[in-house]
Amino acid sequence: MTTSSRPRVNHLGRDVSSRIPAWDAVPGLVALGERDEAIWALAAPYLTVRDNDAHSLFSYGLAAALLSQLPEANEGIVLPAILLHDTGWSTVDEREALEAIAPGGGVPELVLKHEKEGARIAREILTTVGLPASDIDRITEIIDGHDSRPDSMSLEDSIVKDADKLWRVTPHGRAVVCDWFGIDDDESLRLCAYRAYSELFTEPARAMSRALVAVGSMQNSPQLELVHQREQS
Ligand SMILES: [Fe+2]
Ligand SMILES: [Fe+2]
Repeated sequence: MTTSSRPRVNHLGRDVSSRIPAWDAVPGLVALGERDEAIWALAAPYLTVRDNDAHSLFSYGLAAALLSQLPEANEGIVLPAILLHDTGWSTVDEREALEAIAPGGGVPELVLKHEKEGARIAREILTTVGLPASDIDRITEIIDGHDSRPDSMSLEDSIVKDADKLWRVTPHGRAVVCDWFGIDDDESLRLCAYRAYSELFTEPARAMSRALVAVGSMQNSPQLELVHQREQS
């Protein structure tokens, strides 16, 4: 349990903890396995700019959810690729990195640079961790082009691209995008949701996007605003 998830109050007034299901009895919970923990330990230092570390972890969770719906995909390619895909932003100046992805065009050369450098860093890390050479080739091929390549080379490539884009319509993604561009949550939702549907490759990702965007819409609805005001008065 993280510090922020500790309860503030117990309205019921008695302990229900013995009735909470065990972690591995619950479908859909996600944790990094041993291989991915080793990759993450080496990747995290390259992901400290622009919330890329949290972005990569949330995208990892989304990739795992997509894999549960697309079991024919190779998780050994998808999960390392999603953890490492944005390590290349560490080689781009942080201010320039925001210009690179700003609405209205961005800077394509810098997007290409983060993909190429990310593939290079990923190859180093995966070699250290000891993945088979053929897997390393496939993973780095996906990373090199994950944003700029408009089509998909494989189901694994599709899942990585979809998990990356889906993050934008999560609560964390929307909040980060608000601060990137000085926009409010409603604007951030519109900006993010605009691309996180029509550009998705897999049907499960489109369904997840619809659900996340629907929840975000209700979060910004005038009716929920009144509910919050009533709760505070
Ligand atoms: Fe990227
Ligand atoms: Fe990304």
